Amino acid sequence: VILCRFGTSFIKLNNRTIYKNTIPKINGSKLCSTQVSRQANDNTFVPFMTMIQNRRAQASRSILVQVQSAKSYNELYSYCSTIGEVKDMLHYSDNSEQMHFIIVEFKNELDVNKILSVSSHIQENQTVPVQSPFLWFRAPNNKLGKLKQNKTAKLLVENGTSVISEENLKTALSHCTSVSAQIQELYMLTKLNDVGQRLRFITAKQIESTVSGLFPNVCAYPFGSSVNGFGKMDCDLDLVLKLTGHKENENSRLIYHCKAGSGSDRNMNQKNMEVLGDFIHLFLPGCSHVRRILQARIPILKYHQQLTNIECDLSMTTMSGVYMSDFLYLMGEIDNRVRPLIFVIRKWAKEVFLTNNSPGKWISNFSLTLLALAFLQRPLHSPPILPTFNTLVKHAAPSDHFITEDGINCTFLRDITKLKFKKENDKSLESLLFEFFEFYSQFDFENKAICLNEAASISKPEHSALYIVNPLERGLNVSKNVSYDELERFKIEVRNAAWLLESQESSQTYKGLLGIFQNKYNAKYKLNFAASTKHNRLMDVSDLFEGENNESGESHINFKNKQIEK
Ligand code: CTP
Ligand code: MG
Repeated sequence: VILCRFGTSFIKLNNRTIYKNTIPKINGSKLCSTQVSRQANDNTFVPFMTMIQNRRAQASRSILVQVQSAKSYNELYSYCSTIGEVKDMLHYSDNSEQMHFIIVEFKNELDVNKILSVSSHIQENQTVPVQSPFLWFRAPNNKLGKLKQNKTAKLLVENGTSVISEENLKTALSHCTSVSAQIQELYMLTKLNDVGQRLRFITAKQIESTVSGLFPNVCAYPFGSSVNGFGKMDCDLDLVLKLTGHKENENSRLIYHCKAGSGSDRNMNQKNMEVLGDFIHLFLPGCSHVRRILQARIPILKYHQQLTNIECDLSMTTMSGVYMSDFLYLMGEIDNRVRPLIFVIRKWAKEVFLTNNSPGKWISNFSLTLLALAFLQRPLHSPPILPTFNTLVKHAAPSDHFITEDGINCTFLRDITKLKFKKENDKSLESLLFEFFEFYSQFDFENKAICLNEAASISKPEHSALYIVNPLERGLNVSKNVSYDELERFKIEVRNAAWLLESQESSQTYKGLLGIFQNKYNAKYKLNFAASTKHNRLMDVSDLFEGENNESGESHINFKNKQIEK
């Protein structure tokens, strides 16, 4: 459909919104340090799929316009209001604060169609004339002159994607009076905000509208930390693109002619993704660095959307990641301590180099999240804070019945207001964090697997270093990638953190969270770790500490082990 538009675009001189065709340069990578806007705490429960539908609808009512600065909002509002009714305007800029954008949300999706139909391309032979909701607002031409300032125009958010700097975050944490307050503050200052969510759904919409000519019922579902409530401001966007056709209608006499092959055929899927990768690379404004990882268990396309500054991982096979996100979202909704606690655990793991952005033999954020959820399901908090997965399955209503195309049963209760689960545990975040570290420092990783389906650990079905049962596919180990060395480091670090939290209570130099975020010998480790991941080379943990011995000749890892034991 997009190809059909080739050659039909022309410049309309009175149009101010111009399709974004070229890929602008993004300079520098310095993050601005303005405070992240906080969202109001609204306690009404919105089921995951309803939240997804609401956000998708919001993205369909929105366009993203590059402007000169935040101050352009009034003029842009005036221009857009001549075409449709503007609901909200939200500003953000790129990391170097050189490119500015305004998300314009209209009251009605039809207004977006109208604005796109009157927008134009610049000279055809210079750009690929794609139509998408990514536009730029050019200066007024002499004929029309400047638009009148509109008094009703207002910018809902300014600098909506700024990420708090490490320095400011640490200062904010040092002003808190307890570890619990620090955990809450960390969560509030770093969690993905409304603008971040909108941008992720607009990015998903771009892919969707690209193929919608051939597949009118296509859906690009965001999943993972962008939507499960555990994402921070700069988290990646995991997407699954489903080409879903019309459901078979027995009464229909007319059936579509289609090519043979389906989404479940691995070879076919890889070919489709290959083509989609080319399409993204060649035609989609803002998309660059397309990488094809098609031999993985779940083939993915990785790309960077520069206009929204989001790293995307796109797959086309299974919806199980979306249902898994639904499960994690639900767990976060059941108790308001769950998300802050998991944020601090993820942050701690990053600070002590247990996790890393690139995949490898280290523990992933997703595995860490499951470890934390499993801990909160244990009756050692009497009563436990979270129900088991099996409890959710037991309470599922007929409308909760979902089975993926590849046969994974994703049936579990979605509406937590229907869950009869006693919420009597009122432990502080600080106690929970300490108990998390203590629990895993004593856990029998050698013989036991972590299982969220029931409230007890089960025997390990096979000899992976760390075994976390995938709640949706019980035969799979979520943390199969984790090596014995990395598990060893995890055990050391949880013991260390528990010890630091406990010893700080009596010490005069109280730092709370900042104390456990400090890794005494991280300078050398960080250097080696960065080098190992840069070259995408998996190293042995001993390599990371290579040659770094204390006075007695012991390696740091042995030295630290002994210290902890002492
Ligand atoms: N997932 C899964 N099974 C796995 C790995 C991932 O179901 N073995 C799903 C989960 O829903 C997970 C999502 O894929 O949340 C995305 O994985 P990933 O990007 O690794 O984790 P995130 O939770 O998104 O965390 P991060 O912020 O580190 O991206
Ligand atoms: Mg992710």
